[in-house]
Amino acid sequence: MAAPTTRIAIIAGTGKSGKWALKAALLRGYKIKLLARSPEKVDTVLKEVFANYDEAVVTKLKEDSELKIVKGGINDTAVLVDLFTGCDVVMSFLGMLPDQKPVVGPGVESILKALDSMEKGAQPKKFLHMSSIALSESHAQAKKAWGGCVTCCVLKVALKKCFADMQVAEDIIETHREKQSPDSTKVTICRATVLGDKKNYFRDLLEKPTEEDKMSYLLCKVGEEKGKKLTMNIDRQHVGEAFLDLCEIDIYDGGNVSIFDNVKVKKPKEEEVEKVNFDTVAAEKKQ
Ligand SMILES: NC(=O)c1ccc[n+]([C@@H]2O[C@H](COP(=O)([O-])OP(=O)(O)OC[C@H]3O[C@@H](n4cnc5c(N)ncnc54)[C@H](OP(=O)(O)O)[C@@H]3O)[C@@H](O)[C@H]2O)c1
Repeated sequence: MAAPTTRIAIIAGTGKSGKWALKAALLRGYKIKLLARSPEKVDTVLKEVFANYDEAVVTKLKEDSELKIVKGGINDTAVLVDLFTGCDVVMSFLGMLPDQKPVVGPGVESILKALDSMEKGAQPKKFLHMSSIALSESHAQAKKAWGGCVTCCVLKVALKKCFADMQVAEDIIETHREKQSPDSTKVTICRATVLGDKKNYFRDLLEKPTEEDKMSYLLCKVGEEKGKKLTMNIDRQHVGEAFLDLCEIDIYDGGNVSIFDNVKVKKPKEEEVEKVNFDTVAAEKKQ
């Protein structure tokens, strides 16, 4: 398990998925460096993810996490090296914006270039890259989870450019893995099923996973589907939670893993969740 001093570099932590990983990292007391094109957006997303936003509580969490915002874009190697310096883990939630210009492929290329430019001993141990099922060898998982027609439509029509961009990123990672030395940063592709958003939290992210059926999500490598329910959707909060857990476990490092909803876990209804201020509970636990 990671020591509490672990420092995480988060890329796209102001995006729809990344903001939940940012919240989870704050609650778990990790040290955090965050790449932000617009630093003023950080407080806006924190108000979104802390359901019962309390300025004093969030300020304390930010101080404890030594939250450092590194301003800049994904294509600047010097900015990325600054971001990664002193970090143990890099996680990226990069995604294509409505302008539909490729960002994930060029972004991954830039991240790997920055990592390669660092001294081996100074490199973060792992890089967790957010991707989607249906790509590369996970095509069969998408057919099982979404059905063949939906998979075909998503890949070839509805989200053609978005998936092409993500596929470029996976191909770059695959090529990089073939060349990299065993002691360099382990790159893990973490593929989510279709993302959704529900209100508030289903559980307190301070609870560390102890057994599979207590987790909100299911991790499944290609070929391990037998007896598992591959769900159509997963909540973005649970993807954030999975990424934080992947910081702490090593068995998936350097490989590809898919993230589905864990249907075995009973989740409270939204109106029930709202009655519990998980954020304050978490902050109290931390003191
Ligand atoms: N939708 C699905 O069902 C689904 C399923 C599986 C996987 N995925 C993939 O998972 C990823 C994350 O999804 P999401 O919905 O969380 O994405 P999102 O909300 O669209 O977030 C995209 C993030 O990328 C950042 N970004 C874009 N261009 C950038 C640049 N040039 N430099 C730095 N940052 C840049 C944005 O930064 P700002 O915050 O500054 O705008 C934002 O934080 C995407 O690649 C998506 O395709 C999606």
